[in-house]
Amino acid sequence: MNFKEKIRVIPDYPQPGIRFKDITTLLQDGAAYRAAIDELKEQLKDVEIDVIVGPEARGFVVGAPLAYALGVGFVPVRKKGKLPGETIEASYSLEYGKDLLAMHKDAIKPGQKVLIADDLLATGGTISATLDLVKQLQGVPVAAAFLIELNYLEGRKKLDGLNVVSLVQYD
Ligand code: PRP
Repeated sequence: MNFKEKIRVIPDYPQPGIRFKDITTLLQDGAAYRAAIDELKEQLKDVEIDVIVGPEARGFVVGAPLAYALGVGFVPVRKKGKLPGETIEASYSLEYGKDLLAMHKDAIKPGQKVLIADDLLATGGTISATLDLVKQLQGVPVAAAFLIELNYLEGRKKLDGLNVVSLVQYD
C-alpha cells in the first residue's frame, strides 16, 4: 500500500512555513491503518521485543495496536503530572524551552527488550527523552518504529545507532 498517499499534508500549520503531516486521514481508513500496523510488524519480525513504549498522544495510536499485534505489553509515556503512580521523568526540548515526560517507575523490568513507537520522527527530541526513561529503568532499547520520518531533521542521528524503521519518509 502507498501509505504516503493516505497522509494529508497541511501547509502552514501550526505556523507559516511548516507542512504538517496529518495522520488522521490514514487512521480513519480502516484498511490503511491495519496495513500500516501489519507492515511495521513485518519489518520488526526479526527483532525480539518484550514491551512497547509509546509517548502521548500519537505514539499511543501506533504503539498500542502494534503491541496487540505482537502480543506484548504497552507502556505509556505521558507529559508530566498525568500518571497516578510513582514516576521517573526526562526532559525534552520544545521549540521554546523544555518540558518533562514521565513513565511509571515499575513499567519496565531491568533487561526487558523495548521497542519505542511513535507516529513521527522529527528532531528526535521526544524519542531521546523516551529512550532516557527506558534506560533509567535498565530496559534495553532494541528498535524504534514510526509511521513517518522527516529525513531532513536527522532525528535518527540522536538515537545512537538504534535500529529505526519507518513507513513513509519525507526528504
Ligand atoms: C509530535 C509527534 C512526535 C513528536 C516528534 O508529538 O507525535 O511525538 O512530536 O517530534 P520530535 O521528533 O521533534 O520530538 P507532540 O509533542 O506534538 O505531541 P502529541 O502527539 O500529543 O500531539
